[in-house]
Amino acid sequence: MKGIIFAEFLDLVEDTFGLETCQKMLDENQNDGVYTSVGTYDHKDLVKLIVTLSKLTGVSPEDLQQVYGKSIFKTLYKSMPGLEGKADSTFAFINSVEEYIHIEVKKLYPNANPPTFKFISATETQLVMDYVSARCMSHVCLGLIQGCADHFNETINIEMAPITADHSEVRFTITTV
Ligand code: HEM
Repeated sequence: MKGIIFAEFLDLVEDTFGLETCQKMLDENQNDGVYTSVGTYDHKDLVKLIVTLSKLTGVSPEDLQQVYGKSIFKTLYKSMPGLEGKADSTFAFINSVEEYIHIEVKKLYPNANPPTFKFISATETQLVMDYVSARCMSHVCLGLIQGCADHFNETINIEMAPITADHSEVRFTITTV
C-alpha cells in the first residue's frame, strides 16, 4: 500500500489524539513511523496500527477506519492532477474511481492494490455497488464515499451489507437525500 496512505494516517492520529498516543501506537508495533510517499508498504501494518489505536483510545477500529477514509479523500483528490471538473456528482465520481482513477493508480504504481467496485444498479437517486478487496477495508471505503459527498455538497445515506464473512465483499446502497 502506498506510503501516502500511511503518512496521512499518522498525521490524522497525531492531530486527533496527540503526539503521545501516536508514538505509543507506533512503539507498540515496533514501527519507526517512516513512510515516504513513493514507497510501498504492507497494508497489514496499517491494520495493526488501527487495532492498537483502537485499544489506546477506546474508539472501534471500524469508526477509526471511517474517520480516516473521510479525511483522506481530500488528499487523494488533490494528489491526482486533472480531476477538477471531471465529475459533477458523488455517483459520477465513484464511477470514475473504478473506470479511471484506480486504473491510473495501478499504471503509476504497479504494486498498488486499490479495491474493485462492481456496479449492481443505478438510478438518479440510488447507486448499488459491491466493494471487493482482499484488504477488507470497507469502513475506509465508507469514509471515502462520505468525503466524496461532502466535496460535492451532497447529502447521502449509505447502507452497508457484508456479502462475505471476512468483509472482503460488501454491498453499498447509496441514496441521495
Ligand atoms: C469515492 C472515492 C474513492 C473511494 C470510495 C476509494 C476507495 C478506496 C479504498 C477503500 C481503498 C483502500 C484499499 C482497499 O480497500 O483495498 C483505496 C485505496 C487507494 N485509492 Fe482510492 N478511493 C477513492 C478515491 C480515490 C482517489 C481520488 C484517488 C486518487 C489518486 C485514489 C487512489 C487510491 C490509492 C493510491 C490507494 C492505495 C492503493 C495501494 O496503495 O495499494 N482513490 N481506495
